[in-house]
Formats: sequence, structure tokens, C-alpha cells
Amino acid sequence: MKFFVDTADINEIRDLAATGLLDGVTTNPSLVAKTGKNFLDLVAEICGVVKGPVSAEVAATDYETMLKEGRKISKIAKNIAVKVPLTPAGLKVCKALADDGIMVNVTLCFTPAQAILAAKAGAKFISPFVGRLDDISTDGMALIADIVQIYENYPDWNTEVLVASVRHPVHIVESAKMGAHVVTCPPDVIRKLYSHPLTDKGLVTFVEDWKKTGQSIL
Ligand code: E4P
Repeated sequence: MKFFVDTADINEIRDLAATGLLDGVTTNPSLVAKTGKNFLDLVAEICGVVKGPVSAEVAATDYETMLKEGRKISKIAKNIAVKVPLTPAGLKVCKALADDGIMVNVTLCFTPAQAILAAKAGAKFISPFVGRLDDISTDGMALIADIVQIYENYPDWNTEVLVASVRHPVHIVESAKMGAHVVTCPPDVIRKLYSHPLTDKGLVTFVEDWKKTGQSIL
């Protein structure tokens, strides 16, 4: 399973890239707005830090403007995935860009039916939002299970399930059990994956006991 980080904060991206565990980045207009930086410059900077796919979203909602924006964004770097919304116009843009060999991430997916359309439009990634479904008392992970099962039935579809709107480590573990291809997570959720109080407690004991030996490995 691939790990993408869901942020536009370049310092967080650099920090997580240094772990060697980061396979890509997803951004959205809200995350870019938080940085206060120029969108095109910021995306270029991120693409220089991470080799894997970097999702950058179009801003318009009409077909013609989205297509122009998508083509412009795609020229920023080879590892760009143009992000488009799951609307009729967005999927039309997806098809046009995918036909030109550009990676497209279709975002704001909330049903299996929408995920089927995205695959048929040639999306490289479909982004179902699990946390936002959980927020309205709907099982977000059930959507992932459905999409994974459907995509497995059609091996000629090359769309990867990119679990988005991830809120906690259980979303990641469940995604892995279901066979989702990618999870995109806020930095703090990725860091939570390392944590267990017994790991911390055990390490304190090992360090103390090692001191008692009076030895040095180096
Ligand atoms: C990523 O592609 C999505 O835009 C993001 O995961 C949405 O997360 P949120 O629901 O926490 O805003």
C-alpha cells in the first residue's frame, strides 16, 4: 500500500519525505489556501521534493476552463496528477487528460457508482472521502470495500483506490486489509502510526538495563 501525505505544507512534506516512506502528496484548494503561497510555485516546489505523484487540483468547475487549468498544471512536472471533481464536466476533463497520458485524480467521490464512472473515464486515482462520510453517520470504510471489490472485477481498469479524508490510524489499517492501493493522510495521522505506549515503556527499560552493562557497541 502506498502512503501519500495530505498537505500543502512544504516543511511537513520535507520532514516526512526524509523517512523514506512517502510515495506521493495530495493537495486541495483548502490546503493550498492555508499556506498563503502561490499555487503554481508551491506545487513545483513539492514536485521537487517527492518523486511520486503530486495531486494538484483545478479551480474552475466548467469543462473548458478546467481543461485549460489541467493542461497547465500537468506541465509543472512529470509527477503531477491533475485533480478534478467528480462531476460530469470533471469526468469529461479526466477523459481528455487521460487520453493524453496525464495522470488524473478524481476527487470528492462518495458512492461506488461515482467510482465506476471515474474508472471508465481513465482516472489514475479515485479519491473516496471516508472521514467526511463518517462525519455524517455513514460508514466511510464500507465505500472503500465496495470500490475495491468492484475494481477487482475489472482487471482492465487501471484506476487505483486512493483513500482520502483519513482521520486516524484505524482508517489506514482497514484500508490495507481491504487492499486499497493508496492512503492519503494528514501528517499527524502518519506520525500516529508509529506510536504505542508499550513501545515507549519498553525502550526506556532497555536503555536503562543497557546502561547497567557498562558496555558500548561502538
Ligand atoms: C485529499 O485528496 C482530500 O482532499 C482530503 O483527504 C480531504 O480531507 P478532509 O475531509 O479531512 O478535508
